[in-house]
Amino acid sequence: MNPPEKPLPYLQGLWKLLDNPIEAWSRAVYEEPYVLRGNDRQTLLYATDPAMLKDILLDRMAAFPKDWMSDRVTKPALGEGLLTAQGEAWRWQRRAAAPGFRPDNVAGMTSVMVAAAEAALTRWREMGDGARLDIATEMTAITFQVILDTMLSGGEGIDVPVAAARITDYLETLGKVSVPDLLQWPTWTRIALAPRGYRAIVYLKAMVDRMVARRRREAGRGDLVDLLMQAQDPESGRRMDDGLLRDNLLTFIGAGHETTALSLTWSLYLLGLDPGTAARVRAEVSEIAGEAAITHEVAERLVFTRQVVQEAMRLYPPLPLVTRMCGEDTEAGGVAIKAGTFVFIPIYALHRHRRLWRDPDAFDPDRFAPEESAGRHRFAYLPFGGGPRVCIGQTFAMIEAVAILATLVRGAELTPDPGHRIRPLVRVSMRPQGGMPMTLRLRP
Ligand code: HEM
Repeated sequence: MNPPEKPLPYLQGLWKLLDNPIEAWSRAVYEEPYVLRGNDRQTLLYATDPAMLKDILLDRMAAFPKDWMSDRVTKPALGEGLLTAQGEAWRWQRRAAAPGFRPDNVAGMTSVMVAAAEAALTRWREMGDGARLDIATEMTAITFQVILDTMLSGGEGIDVPVAAARITDYLETLGKVSVPDLLQWPTWTRIALAPRGYRAIVYLKAMVDRMVARRRREAGRGDLVDLLMQAQDPESGRRMDDGLLRDNLLTFIGAGHETTALSLTWSLYLLGLDPGTAARVRAEVSEIAGEAAITHEVAERLVFTRQVVQEAMRLYPPLPLVTRMCGEDTEAGGVAIKAGTFVFIPIYALHRHRRLWRDPDAFDPDRFAPEESAGRHRFAYLPFGGGPRVCIGQTFAMIEAVAILATLVRGAELTPDPGHRIRPLVRVSMRPQGGMPMTLRLRP
């Protein structure tokens, strides 16, 4: 995708913002440390200077809270859960959920991740050589099952294909900025104008409410649901009521599978275009695991496979845009920022920035080799965000992506459909428009 040479004319820019924001970012966003745009009513800052990003996400994060626009997009589904809450309400929920994501806890979940990938391979074997798969849907099915099996004790009563379809309904309708947002109409108007999205919310909330009601009656199972049910705010003594519990479970279901599915989809796509790199992944897996199943210890040693996932998330970050609002006159990276400035952290452009990456559009997993990464600024690469609000699931997601990719690449070769035009489309996350059709060749 070639960015526009100049900022788009006002109306065309607005249309792109509604349709696919990354296509509105002009070349300057990929070349300058920051870009300020706007008029007397609203200033927009595109920040790609790592020092500026460190100030926004970490050192001065209190001055840059989450913004009303992302609230309008996410809150109808996720309410006041961990992803959307602010201040003290966020802090205690983060503390409450953290133990579920400790590395020792995650280590015990890798076998479940590998089993979900093996189950997909078994299905693919039944379909046979030459089968055409939509890899985006396949990866969503795998990672959805993983999140249910690892965090929600199997998630009884959840129909995975239907729930995944409802999440897509939500993302494709309410998961993007719409006309009522630009006009700042009340939130209910954007919901009223998107009946498909509204039905999705009703379905998903009822699905989780049933689970919460059942789990309140049952004995504990030691999973994330129990952890959140038992959590107590040390300061106020507050516990999660059913509504907040539902918001959080929907947050973990939503944030916890689609993003990882996309990191796998884009990894398989890039490997499909580059058989030499795919062969290196297979050689690494065979050297470290032999014929045996991928264990947690093996997955941790698959250094090159991990680099492939990191590079895929550089070129195609599952969350390509994070936003904030500047709440007070302050500065970031040495630049004065006025209260009320809308802050875009254009992760997609940051990861292809001309000043930060050599040959930025090329797929080259070796750039994540330890010696190559050594001098890189921590805030030049933000697939999981940064600072205290960094993704709580990043250790889980990385081991999951590596273990599943290694399992799939060992059992199958996938070739992208040459006739399918790849267009990354932003609906909170960045999905390939029309899915990712690939042709299967089974490996012995
Ligand atoms: C490749 C996979 C993933 C990617 C690329 C990703 C990306 C991100 C990013 C960029 C943020 C920061 C958003 C912001 O600052 O506004 C975030 C936050 C979050 N992620 Fe992830 N994520 C992934 C996987 C997961 C998983 C597996 C889970 C849970 C099981 C999860 C749960 C969350 C939650 C709850 C937050 C909010 C954290 C907070 O505000 O304290 N994510 N994620």
